[in-house]
Amino acid sequence: MNDRYRIIGPLYDFLAMIFSFGQIDRCKTAMHDHIKPGDKVLFAGVGQGIDAVAAAERGAEVTVVDLSESMLRIFNKRIQGRYFTHQIRQVHQDILTFDEYDQFDMVYANFFLNVFSKEMMLEIMEHLTKLTKKGGNVVIGDFALPSGNVVAKMFQNIYWYIADIIFFVMARNALHPVYDYQAHMQQLGLTISDLKYLRFLFDERYCSIMGKKG
Ligand SMILES: C[S@@+](CC[C@H](N)C(=O)[O-])C[C@H]1O[C@@H](n2cnc3c(N)ncnc32)[C@H](O)[C@@H]1O
Repeated sequence: MNDRYRIIGPLYDFLAMIFSFGQIDRCKTAMHDHIKPGDKVLFAGVGQGIDAVAAAERGAEVTVVDLSESMLRIFNKRIQGRYFTHQIRQVHQDILTFDEYDQFDMVYANFFLNVFSKEMMLEIMEHLTKLTKKGGNVVIGDFALPSGNVVAKMFQNIYWYIADIIFFVMARNALHPVYDYQAHMQQLGLTISDLKYLRFLFDERYCSIMGKKG
């Protein structure tokens, strides 16, 4: 399997930390207060997985899925020797072939959907919704849609494209504008049940959006 995150993967969390002064990490766990012990929680494209570990620490039954062997190796190191109420299940697979439908109380896509072209992102978002139980939630943590006046939007777009271009070169991510995840979630029939913004350099740069499946 072609591992696009072999080179950038080990650096990913460090780059995210300096690029956002830690706000990306905070964004990834912004909805964790909704997790209850015993909840079945899925992390799609888990990467290094600080969010998945934090969910397991809350007593959730965590499953992580990632296509990259090197990312899962890093994740494995992170949890080595750790004890959780429920051992974390790791799945090395394309998320689109992971078909445990209607099983999860929460399905997370943290900084995952921005990897894809719009067409693919919509297909994956629909798939993640199918994996979620009725009454469960899909959580998307990512770059916030640029807002404010023309200058503010311009800075937010430049900031996004710096990240996008680095990952386009290093991991062949798609080049695209920031997606309007909230609108797409609503189009899929999800009801926005919580929304948190994280500020960076004068404006709301990241958001965590929770959508309930009816
Ligand atoms: C931008 S990183 C984000 C990682 C992590 N969620 C975070 O916030 O740090 C995207 C992750 O998605 C994984 N990935 C990409 N395409 C995938 C797919 N089709 N199925 C599962 N994982 C995938 C990559 O290997 C990588 O670990």
